[in-house]
Amino acid sequence: MHKDEFQQAIFTIRQVSKLLWKINPRLTILIFILSLLWGLLTFPAFYLEKLILDRIVENIGSPVWKNVIYSISFLIIGRILIELTRNIISGFLGFFRQYASKNFHIEIELLIAGQLSKLDIPTIEDPEFQDKFNKIEREAGRRAWGLVMPLTDIPNYLAGFISSVGILYFLHPLVAAGVILVSLPWIFVDRKFIKKWYDFEFEVSAKHRIRGHIAHYLIRTKNHLELRILNLSRYLISKMRIVHTEVMTGEAKIHKQQELAKTYTYIPSLLFYAGVNIYLVYLAIGVRISIGSYEFFLRSLLAASQNFSSLTSSFLEIYENYVFVSDLTWFLNLEPVINSKGGILPGKIKTGIEIKDVWFKYREDSDWILKGINATFFEGEKIAVVGENGAGKTTLIKILARFYDATLGTVTLDGQDIKKLNYPKYQGKFAVLFQDFEDYSFSARESIGFGDIDRVENLEEIMEAAKKTGIHEYIQSLPLGYENPLSPHFHKGVNLSGGQWQRVGIARMLFRKKAEILILDEPTSNVDPEAEEKIFNELMKISKNKILVFVSQRFSTVRRADKILVVDKGRVIEQGSHGALMKLRGKYAQLFSLQAKGYK
Ligand SMILES: Nc1ncnc2c1ncn2[C@@H]1O[C@H](COP(=O)(O)OP(=O)(O)O)[C@@H](O)[C@H]1O
Ligand SMILES: [Mg+2]
Repeated sequence: MHKDEFQQAIFTIRQVSKLLWKINPRLTILIFILSLLWGLLTFPAFYLEKLILDRIVENIGSPVWKNVIYSISFLIIGRILIELTRNIISGFLGFFRQYASKNFHIEIELLIAGQLSKLDIPTIEDPEFQDKFNKIEREAGRRAWGLVMPLTDIPNYLAGFISSVGILYFLHPLVAAGVILVSLPWIFVDRKFIKKWYDFEFEVSAKHRIRGHIAHYLIRTKNHLELRILNLSRYLISKMRIVHTEVMTGEAKIHKQQELAKTYTYIPSLLFYAGVNIYLVYLAIGVRISIGSYEFFLRSLLAASQNFSSLTSSFLEIYENYVFVSDLTWFLNLEPVINSKGGILPGKIKTGIEIKDVWFKYREDSDWILKGINATFFEGEKIAVVGENGAGKTTLIKILARFYDATLGTVTLDGQDIKKLNYPKYQGKFAVLFQDFEDYSFSARESIGFGDIDRVENLEEIMEAAKKTGIHEYIQSLPLGYENPLSPHFHKGVNLSGGQWQRVGIARMLFRKKAEILILDEPTSNVDPEAEEKIFNELMKISKNKILVFVSQRFSTVRRADKILVVDKGRVIEQGSHGALMKLRGKYAQLFSLQAKGYK
């Protein structure tokens, strides 16, 4: 259903209130009550002033002024006490609102991270998801103030408006009705501007994205070598400024139109107020109301208009965030598509994993990426996967580790369909190092220890893993040893080379001793062949009773596998040992001799 602008604004307010409530219910209540009180306390103050004024008028020229001053003092003290209370409320309210805004920002980030960790890979790798998600993630910080501040103003303005209308009702029901009537044009103008801001927001979010992108290149220190050689900074900075100026000018233009429209809308109100004012003068001169009441009603009248216009502004301010809030709500309500419920897993792997006639496509409307794959991964077996870029090797591994479910066909573990097994536990059996594995910029100990988070404190075994991949000496030589951060962004942090990162990554994998299936998806491309050989030997040793799958372009290691799968355009076109495949004189033999020639 398409929501109109007003419904969208209400939706935004509701969702943000819910989030605020979810993050900190006590603080939310406190803020709303204080905001309400602040709004309500205006009227007792007005009323006391009315009483004071009336006393003064009654006693003008009175000879017994000392008696009068006594009773007026009470009123003045009351008036001061209200002022004091409002001051205290305002102080606390200001602090609580700031706190809530900051907290909102951080909690939203945590909420986003938590939800993301619950979602599965098919959801996350979807381009549409990525597009929306990047937007949400980037904007979360910028939005917090614009949401929390106006939202917490609403009770104040609402209370102010309702009480002033109530007070004017006592003056005359028609005056109360009139106040509401002259407020209506505000709603129409605001609706119009809600639409304008919405369209603008749409346009601007694309521009923000461009700006973010440019900032990313400019601010990252990683590619400054290239930026310098190409002398790009000036060009990029001016481009960023242009985008920024466009956004600011667009914003200023709408603001100007809005202020102008507000002025026009104010005219009926002003006429009405003039009318009521004359009416009040008439009542006061005819002594039907006191001077104090005259002042009291007049102030209430102005308060009604001020509160109403502030209320609509807050509404509008919140509404500017509609797209963000509706995307955020969409994201927070997403459910994973892979069924994570499933039976218990058998203990240690007995036979292995079997892939039977698996067909796979990433999305319904895309091409088949895997086309009828049959392969077995038996316990203790070392399997190499070779094939050209884009052949489907990584995809096959994603199916094996159940990041995706096969579109057609089955994958079984010890004869059981993995779709019927407990999904997180199934994945717990794996240690996978992908091509673009993570460079954790924590300490060296943690970077390796993350392989098995329960043993992240076990330095001895972490060192053992580091020794096996030849990174131990290097880590020991760092100023803080194993506690040294592996990122130049931190104190005493260092910058690792691609090859060093791969050694850390593999050490992390070796440290994951509980894993029964080890998968390496071309992570050794940046270490020299000799080092790869050494690492590979270590892997062979530790994976004696495990399944080892490695995707590699280096035939010197590939040839040592028990079984080699040759993947081509989504099919396994050849499989067998090095000897058998060479005899076959097919694709494998061809690729092998091509590389062997290069080494001669
Ligand atoms: N998340 C994804 N969504 C859509 N297509 C993808 C995705 N990942 C990979 N592909 C496509 O699947 C094909 C096989 O990719 P991949 O399995 O990574 O090949 P390889 O690892 O053999 O180089 C490529 O055409 C690639 O563009
Ligand atoms: Mg790949």
